[in-house]
Amino acid sequence: MKSTLACHFAPSLRVIRGQATAPMTASAFAAGSQPIQRVPAEALLPMLGHHQVLELVARGGMCRVFLGAHAVTGQRIALKVLDDRWSEHEEIVARLLGEIEVSRRVPHDGLVHISDAARSSSGAAYLVMEMLDGESLAKLLERGRMELGAVAAIGAQIADAVAAMHAAEIVHCDLKPENVMLLYRDGLAGWPRVKVLDFGVARFGECSRVEQVAGTPCYMAPEQWRGQAEPRSDVYGLGCLLYELTTGAAPFEGSIANVMSAHCDLLPTPMSARRQVPEVLDRLVSRMLAKEPGMRPRMVEIARALTDIAFALPPGARGDATSATAAR
Ligand SMILES: Nc1ncnc2c1ncn2[C@@H]1O[C@H](COP(=O)(O)OP(=O)(O)OP(=O)(O)O)[C@@H](O)[C@H]1O
Ligand SMILES: [Mg+2]
Repeated sequence: MKSTLACHFAPSLRVIRGQATAPMTASAFAAGSQPIQRVPAEALLPMLGHHQVLELVARGGMCRVFLGAHAVTGQRIALKVLDDRWSEHEEIVARLLGEIEVSRRVPHDGLVHISDAARSSSGAAYLVMEMLDGESLAKLLERGRMELGAVAAIGAQIADAVAAMHAAEIVHCDLKPENVMLLYRDGLAGWPRVKVLDFGVARFGECSRVEQVAGTPCYMAPEQWRGQAEPRSDVYGLGCLLYELTTGAAPFEGSIANVMSAHCDLLPTPMSARRQVPEVLDRLVSRMLAKEPGMRPRMVEIARALTDIAFALPPGARGDATSATAAR
């Protein structure tokens, strides 16, 4: 897992990648799927507010996510619960509970919906969210890089959702494979539906000067390393994510010190040197990875460009055909 880095927390970086291409359409993806990715549960919390805690579904850097059900209606929900060891850290608690602000301010279908944020009688801080049936991009990447049409369709949906956050003057700051879920449902151009989640280090306000470095090293823009975040920092993070979906490896990997200096000073190996990719996709991702934020395209422009590429490369099309990418 590539963990979010905030204040003094040491992230553990994962550095390996497979290369096999696993074809993935919405229906094939759904057909081969389990309803929920299940992880063996440890000690489960019996109740949180009105919700029963049923099963551990995933673990993040500081939280566990459980499948839950409303005690009266039985409605399935997801409960994101802060690990006990952080419950005395008011800033961390506030950051978790503050995630609900995104749902309040930005009603967009591409963003996970958070319906409640609370502390239990025993002090556990938690969020109540819609339960997403699918898999994180990180899980899918373990099986190898993706078809190019899927890369474009996933990227277009992320860009569309994050553009809505930007319109509300919120910067996500932590776009990475672990924070994007692919649902077992149709999304765009025959490819699966996408939801962006984890607003734990999101910044509110037009151009946020932050006190701390926050994000995940492999996806952090040069300005984020200097403690600044703006909408085009998300463009850079999404550029890194698209690069990884396309090639099977993030633009820069290794120790935190090496990754930081590479993001600030080095140009990544062009995607086209690692895989045959349509020129339009290669150029777009290169622009997204510009060191200077002002040189990067805006999220809405990226959403449009990737949507065009996705429709030009529907499931079953030759993903490496460079001619299949002319903008509509
Ligand atoms: N609503 C949901 N439905 C289903 N699974 C979810 C949901 N929200 C999160 N998950 C799963 O839980 C994992 C951890 O969630 P999340 O990223 O929000 O936690 P986190 O502790 O803030 O993560 P980190 O700090 O490591 O980035 C996700 O990668 C995803 O697999
Ligand atoms: Mg996360």
